[in-house]
Amino acid sequence: MSERIALVTGASRGVGKAVAAGLSARGMTVISGMRTPSGELSVRLDVTDQETITAAAGWIEERFGRLDVLVNNAGISGYTPGRPPGATPVESVREVFETNVLGVVAVTNAMLPLLRRSPAARIVNVSSGVGSLTYQTDPDHYMYGLPPQAAYPASKAALNALTVQYARELAGEGIQVNAATPGPCDTDFTQGLGFDLGRTAEDGARVVVDLASGSDMAGPDGPTGGFFDENGRVPW
Ligand SMILES: NC(=O)c1ccc[n+]([C@@H]2O[C@H](COP(=O)([O-])OP(=O)(O)OC[C@H]3O[C@@H](n4cnc5c(N)ncnc54)[C@H](OP(=O)(O)O)[C@@H]3O)[C@@H](O)[C@H]2O)c1
Repeated sequence: MSERIALVTGASRGVGKAVAAGLSARGMTVISGMRTPSGELSVRLDVTDQETITAAAGWIEERFGRLDVLVNNAGISGYTPGRPPGATPVESVREVFETNVLGVVAVTNAMLPLLRRSPAARIVNVSSGVGSLTYQTDPDHYMYGLPPQAAYPASKAALNALTVQYARELAGEGIQVNAATPGPCDTDFTQGLGFDLGRTAEDGARVVVDLASGSDMAGPDGPTGGFFDENGRVPW
């Protein structure tokens, strides 16, 4: 395949920055979507701001005419220690869903006309293991022991559900849509936990890069509508 054009949202730091570097290392031309752009191939993109999304799509169309890869990575946790679902203001939940769920719909829909011009487009939604209802309800899984929260796990479960729906819509057009969890890794996002997770953002980015690029996992007969970590499929 000739030059591949990729857009990564939330590419200013953490997993998104590592995904952008990983896709570049595989020869792609990577556009870094950032709330505060820096660098030539970065574009202003706040996933909660339709104006910036529309403008970014216009900029990509003008400059490249199509998009081959979209990585919906931007995300927030909204985590407040000691606040269970029953004590969480609805506004806090709304804020997390605005970014982690509705932001993905807005960006994906704006980029779809460009993705449809690609011979083999890939969409990767950056989810989380805590979005797995199986893990959350399995007393033998370590995530069962994490404090219950209203916003973040539900937002990633909703993102997984959206992944399936987009995959169903786009299967006939050769566009693969998958969710990937980076797994726990040390970024600003997890800094507040107060301990070293022992995995870097680059470790977390690997599965995302694999799904987004032309590796075996994402070849022409690669999966669509699945949820993956670095070891393979994750249960819903
Ligand atoms: N780290 C982990 O252990 C872990 C585990 C599982 C899943 N994840 C997922 O991985 C993704 C990246 O997390 P991370 O650990 O890299 O977090 P991070 O270091 O906090 O980075 C978050 C990124 O998202 C961007 N962002 C936040 N809100 C945005 C918005 N409205 N529009 C555009 N960009 C926005 C941030 O941009 P600014 O610089 O402008 O704030 C930043 O680039 C998230 O979806 C997260 O849920 C992370």
